[in-house]
Amino acid sequence: MGRLSGSHVVVVGGSSGMGAAIATLARTEGGRITIGSRNPGRFSAPEGMTVLPLDLGLPQSIADFAERLDPIDHLVITAHAAATLQTLKPVQAIDLADLESVFRIKLFGTLRLIGACLPAMTRHGSIILFSGAASRRTIPNHVGLGALNAAVEGAGRQLARELAPIRVNVLSPGLVRTPAYDAMPAADREAMFAARAAALPVGRVGMVDDIALAAIHLMCNGYVTGTVQDIDGGALLG
Ligand SMILES: NC(=O)c1ccc[n+]([C@@H]2O[C@H](COP(=O)([O-])OP(=O)(O)OC[C@H]3O[C@@H](n4cnc5c(N)ncnc54)[C@H](OP(=O)(O)O)[C@@H]3O)[C@@H](O)[C@H]2O)c1
Repeated sequence: MGRLSGSHVVVVGGSSGMGAAIATLARTEGGRITIGSRNPGRFSAPEGMTVLPLDLGLPQSIADFAERLDPIDHLVITAHAAATLQTLKPVQAIDLADLESVFRIKLFGTLRLIGACLPAMTRHGSIILFSGAASRRTIPNHVGLGALNAAVEGAGRQLARELAPIRVNVLSPGLVRTPAYDAMPAADREAMFAARAAALPVGRVGMVDDIALAAIHLMCNGYVTGTVQDIDGGALLG
């Protein structure tokens, strides 16, 4: 018997990076997993996992996805827009169309999805949103992402009160090695990881399993709501 035996865990973003690690660990803990992906045919889900089509940028897709879900115990949303990296620029250089698309997916798509899933959420269930350290730490070229992640954290706190007894928490990862950085030239990417590792108290960047462990805790601990959990190797210590 795992800690999530009998639970239905929905992971939007479960096809990649932290979401995939959360889906895998939740499955190991006995959960039944549904993943939302824009391209469900791209990968074959292991036993105990179902993949359904979902595009957070399309209201009808969100409605169709929510309609197909059995009662949900835990809803985890790690998805972020492909244009995220393109917004990492000084404010005068940001293409606002890129920034609009990252807000459209990670903030507005997430809020729309939560609203659509609410009728299926069990009262003892939980929701986990994802922000990032730029919400509270100044980082060069992170004006757009800082605003986005702060908005997610603000929404998470409000939702924890509004949706109670459903628990709502935000997980704020530091730099984690995921496919999100695959588009960077390899040398630049490795230099970024090495510099960040050297700057952090823990001496390394994050791994997806660090984040999955924290997500399982947020699903299982019934006394945690309205929090922002920083899983960042000490990034906020300066
Ligand atoms: N990696 C880091 O260092 C880092 C640091 C701070 C914060 N974060 C945040 O942590 C979260 C997880 O990041 P990650 O690096 O694990 O992500 P990732 O590996 O880049 O995966 C992104 C996921 O988003 C999904 N997605 C993209 N557009 C979508 C859409 N329109 N509708 C539905 N799903 C969509 C993709 O699914 P499909 O392609 O299958 O649709 C994919 O599963 C994100 O919110 C990110 O902003 C990451």
